[in-house]
Amino acid sequence: MTTSPALPAAVRIVEMGPRDGLQNEKRLVSADTKVELVRRLEAAGLKAIETTAFVSPKWVPQMGDNAEVLGRVLAAAVPGVAYPVLTPNLKGFEAALAAGAKEVAVFGAASESFSRKNINCSIAESLERFRPVTEAARAAGVRVRGYVSCVAGCPYEGAVAPQAVAEVAATLMDMGCYEISLGDTIGSGNPASIARMLEAVMRRVPAARLAGHYHDTYGMAVANIHASLQMGVAVFDASVGGLGGCPYAAGASGNVATEDVVWLLNGLGVGTGIDLDALVDVAAWISAQLEREPASRVARAVLAKRAQAGCA
Ligand code: HMG
Ligand code: MG
Repeated sequence: MTTSPALPAAVRIVEMGPRDGLQNEKRLVSADTKVELVRRLEAAGLKAIETTAFVSPKWVPQMGDNAEVLGRVLAAAVPGVAYPVLTPNLKGFEAALAAGAKEVAVFGAASESFSRKNINCSIAESLERFRPVTEAARAAGVRVRGYVSCVAGCPYEGAVAPQAVAEVAATLMDMGCYEISLGDTIGSGNPASIARMLEAVMRRVPAARLAGHYHDTYGMAVANIHASLQMGVAVFDASVGGLGGCPYAAGASGNVATEDVVWLLNGLGVGTGIDLDALVDVAAWISAQLEREPASRVARAVLAKRAQAGCA
């Protein structure tokens, strides 16, 4: 008889809704709505909420209110909750620090073409830009997370070699990133390709320092999380209501919906500390703000069941 590998007792979910979820919205979402979204996510039990991005407002206008949003969120920060923000370079880091950031994230890619489209430089140049960010962060006592995009495929180059992902991930870890989040930016991965990628990365970076950041374009993200869990990954990024997409990956849909991940983990008996019903309320609320239905299958099912029971 074969036995399944042991699953972790608990998983940490890093909520992406306010940043990855909203960055691609064409219509500007008000700072009030963004701050309210963070407050509602805290109340549902999220302990890490990526709040905004200190990127160029010419590149991503939706994040142009970064200092206001982070400042207002931190003014009523909940103890024990982390509010990381994206910082592509020293300029972004200094602005984030001035707004009070205690955690930032640098974001690189395993594909040259995506690196150029997303942050206007080669992979090697990006790593040289991140180095002073990690040094300044260390001096300021700020934690740094690292992202690698295009871990399973690139919108411009197609398949990406697992070795290329491993190389960037290891460099970010050596630079001092406490965790490396592996981004399937276009959601083209499947459990087999994600496992091959993780095998290569884990030869360089221990599983305890990895996170899965899977977009759900082809509906594979939950399966990819299950495969990653079985390989020892215990941190996953997700976006309430399945909001989002990357401005530099046309056609890519949002991160896996946080509700779908919590449903999976509840079913597997893996703890998250998140209240699924409260989270579905947040998905319904932000989707209504954006005048759409939640993309999440679980949110839709829970809402339909509630409506049937006459308590929607
Ligand atoms: P650049 O044009 O090469 O930068 O952009 P530059 O250094 O040449 O500066 C040009 C102008 O931008 C100057 O202003 C700078 O001051 C300004 P000007 O003199 O023209 O008025 N500038 C900035 N302004 C505000 N904040 C900054 C900043 N830096 C320079 N930090 C840059 C380079 C990285 C800034 C640009 O390409 C950029 O902002 N890119 C952002 C792309 C982005 O946000 N993409 C989405 C997030 S990544 C993602 O979604 C993937 C992820 O989810 C994982 C996954 O799914 O795979 C993380
Ligand atoms: Mg992403």
